[in-house]
Amino acid sequence: MANRLNGKIAIVTGAGSGMGKATALEYLRENCKIVAMDNKGERLGALQKEVEEMGLAANLVTFTGSITSNEDCDKAVEAAVKAFGSLNVLTHFAGCMDYFATAEEVTDEDWDYVIAINLTASMRISRACLKYFLPNEIRASMILVTSNGAVQGSTAGVAYIASKGGVESLAQCMAFEYGRNGIRVNTIQPGPFMTAITSDSAWGAKAMANKGAAIHRGTGYNKSSRDWILTGEWVTERYVAADPKHIAGGAVYLASDESAFMNSGTLRIDGGICLG
Ligand SMILES: NC(=O)c1ccc[n+]([C@@H]2O[C@H](COP(=O)([O-])OP(=O)(O)OC[C@H]3O[C@@H](n4cnc5c(N)ncnc54)[C@H](O)[C@@H]3O)[C@@H](O)[C@H]2O)c1
Repeated sequence: MANRLNGKIAIVTGAGSGMGKATALEYLRENCKIVAMDNKGERLGALQKEVEEMGLAANLVTFTGSITSNEDCDKAVEAAVKAFGSLNVLTHFAGCMDYFATAEEVTDEDWDYVIAINLTASMRISRACLKYFLPNEIRASMILVTSNGAVQGSTAGVAYIASKGGVESLAQCMAFEYGRNGIRVNTIQPGPFMTAITSDSAWGAKAMANKGAAIHRGTGYNKSSRDWILTGEWVTERYVAADPKHIAGGAVYLASDESAFMNSGTLRIDGGICLG
């Protein structure tokens, strides 16, 4: 399929890796124009190269910046308007993992770090886009990526889960507030995917080796998350192996007019992992 995103101009955050990258590539295949934002410039360089090989580079601008910086968020919006004349989609993937710290062991510093990147920065990049959408009367789609853990117990630590729960509430609040302006806000809740998010983590290997007490027990999981995910124990005949492209399809739907009647909704794309 192609052209499902004709006329769409998107900022895709976290576009250098994992689900954000898979989505950026799928958006381009569907004829979307995109500003690919990530704070790791070398990843955007690799994306640029891949897109050039696909012959789609005319529709790509890369922007190295952090979603934690208001200035960078504003610059990403400006980059879209400068390159493509407008902006009507925000697809926000950038985020960080914690190290599965439970409520009694998390430190204030670690809590603040995760909340700043996952929750506060989600508000910042949303606000930067809204400051463009509203005065310009842009009918837009905003897609915030949370986690199945935000609503189904836990597949991470308390800071991560609370941060993603906060993003769900942020999305609900904005969906209510701006629906009347033709701005839709929906979320995607991925289940566990093996991406760079754990190896990138500020806590390194600890993120994957910590005890699994906080992990959803309904799946039978009670050992280290690394073993659990790498051995694919959760991939039974009931589940399929997680691939970022499974998320990209949902992100195309939410950015496109096919989802025009969807506001304040969520796509949980997790293989049913937490069904127990
Ligand atoms: N991987 C999983 O198991 C999983 C499960 C549920 C939800 N999620 C969520 O999905 C989203 C994407 O995760 P992923 O697994 O594809 O991660 P990933 O690490 O592969 O990609 C995330 C990208 O975001 C970038 N990034 C991080 N902080 C940034 C910042 N401050 N500013 C700009 N860019 C920044 C990173 O450089 C990276 O390229 C995240 O929000 C994550 O919380 C992931």
